[in-house]
Order: sequence, then structure tokens, then C-alpha cells
Amino acid sequence: MRLALIAGTANPQLAEGLARQLGVALESRVVERFPDGELGVAVGSVRGADVYLVQPTGPPVHDNLVELLMLADAARRAGAARVTGVVPYVAYARHDRRGAEGESIGGRVVADGLSRALDRVVAVDLHTAALEGFFGCPIEHLSAISLLAERVRPLLTEHVVVAPDLGAVKRAERFARILGLPSASVRKQRWSARQVEALGIDGDVRGLGVLLVDDMISTGATVVAATNALRAAGVGRVIVAATHGLLVPPAAERLAALQLESLLVTDSLTPPTGTLPVTLVSLAALLADAVGRLHRDAPLAELVGTH
Ligand code: R5P
Repeated sequence: MRLALIAGTANPQLAEGLARQLGVALESRVVERFPDGELGVAVGSVRGADVYLVQPTGPPVHDNLVELLMLADAARRAGAARVTGVVPYVAYARHDRRGAEGESIGGRVVADGLSRALDRVVAVDLHTAALEGFFGCPIEHLSAISLLAERVRPLLTEHVVVAPDLGAVKRAERFARILGLPSASVRKQRWSARQVEALGIDGDVRGLGVLLVDDMISTGATVVAATNALRAAGVGRVIVAATHGLLVPPAAERLAALQLESLLVTDSLTPPTGTLPVTLVSLAALLADAVGRLHRDAPLAELVGTH
């Protein structure tokens, strides 16, 4: 069966990197935007092919989601034998429960939609590993933790790995194990989508440099609150590493004002433009490895389950 790689419009650079790693050309496709905001999507000849659609669902979230669903539909109607979504960032993953009676669960709605449209999903560092259970189709949950840890290793001396909230503790421990460092965590309270507060720090940080790790940076509120609390507790240099750089306003201004030693994110989402210095760690080789194995029906055991 032929491997057919199709790039959505969400992150063409990542798809090109993946194509280079796999030694294949990207398939032709058309994504048209109509004046009313609707999309028109078409793919080239993929009859009988093993199709991989590269489309993270970061901002603009709904455009990217609908485009992914329509690409999957187009591939099926064109006779694809199997359709896999390479969706390194899965939108709504943070919305995995109801905050109050009457609310929808966005994570479940997205998982249901993707599961119906795709045969399989390849994702990277979902907000919680338990989200896998929301999907009715198989999901290969990869991690960028090793990639980020190895990139940051040369910058580290007397450092402690810090989770900016309780949800990131396991991630921080994983980084700490790989890097042979201690770990600590910040107790965070979120007051609104754009406002959080650090209530305290669990663990020893005084006099150390910090590697602050998270699954994503959205508005930057979490990183700012954690960094300020850590500095007040006697921390010197702060490096931040996160898998998904959503970096929605006012993240760039907030993070620039922090004067971090280094800020690393992967290229799961289209790299931010502007003046904020960001080190991009590419997922292309990791995703290509996963796609290659799936295409050959080879095990992914070494690539998954390291969260
Ligand atoms: C929350 O639990 C996540 O892991 C991130 O810490 C959070 O979503 C980042 O958002 P922001 O940058 O807006 O604080």
C-alpha cells in the first residue's frame, strides 16, 4: 500500500519536514476559504493509499479542526484505504470534565469527531494521558519530553526541574529522571482564562537555576506566575520548555518581560512570528518515525508510553 502524506494548512512547515524525513513528496490538495468563512477541501489521487493528514488543531482552532475533518472526508471519498490524522496538538484537551452542571465537555466532542473521521490519530503530549480514553479510534500518544530534555541539557548546571502546577508534576518528574535533576512544583490557582496566581512552592529551589516545564504555553499567565514566585523564592536563571507553543496574545509581551535565559517549544504548531526569542525543537523526526512504523505495521512501543 502506498504511503500518502497530505499537509493541511495549519502547519505546512512541519509537514514538509515530515515529508523530507520520510523521503516522500507531499500529495496535492486544495484548501479554499470562501468569503463566508466556509472551506472547500479536495485531495489528489489517493485511491488504495495509506493516508497521513498532518494537521495540528491550534489557533484558529475551529478552522483547523473543520479542515482536518474535511481532509479526512475527502481522502475517504477519494478511495483511501486508511486515514491517519497526525495531530501533534489536539485542541480542547484541557476541557476534559465539566466545571459546572450544564456545561459541555469540549475534549469529548473533539475526540468523538476525530474518532469518527479518522482510522487512527497520532498526537504528542496530550494535556492528560487519560484523554486517550475519550477516543473511539486508536490513538498513538507520543512524547516530546526526551527531545526537549536533550536540547536543554547543555544549558543546565545547578538546576531543579519545576512543574508550574500540579497537572505538570509527572511531566517534571519525567524531565528530572532523564536529566538526573531534582524536581519541585508550584501550587497554582487559576482565576480566569488569562489570570493565574502562584500560591506557593513545594520543594527546594533556593539558589538553584530552574527548568520550568509544561505541556503548553497559551497566554503565558502560568509561566509568568510561576517564574515570579520562583524568583521571589531565590531562584536565579529560569529556562522554560513546553511542548506546544500556542503563544496567544499577550504571551509574547509577557514572556519577553520575564527575561528568561531560554524558551523552548516544539514545532507542533506554526512557529510564532515576532521578536520573542524562541528555540524551536522539531518533531519531524519523531513523527516520521511513528508514521513509518504505522505504515509498516511495526510496533511503536519505544515511542509511546513515556509520559
Ligand atoms: C494547564 O493546566 C496547562 O498545562 C497550562 O499550564 C496552561 O494551559 C497554560 O496556559 P497559560 O499560558 O494561558 O497560562
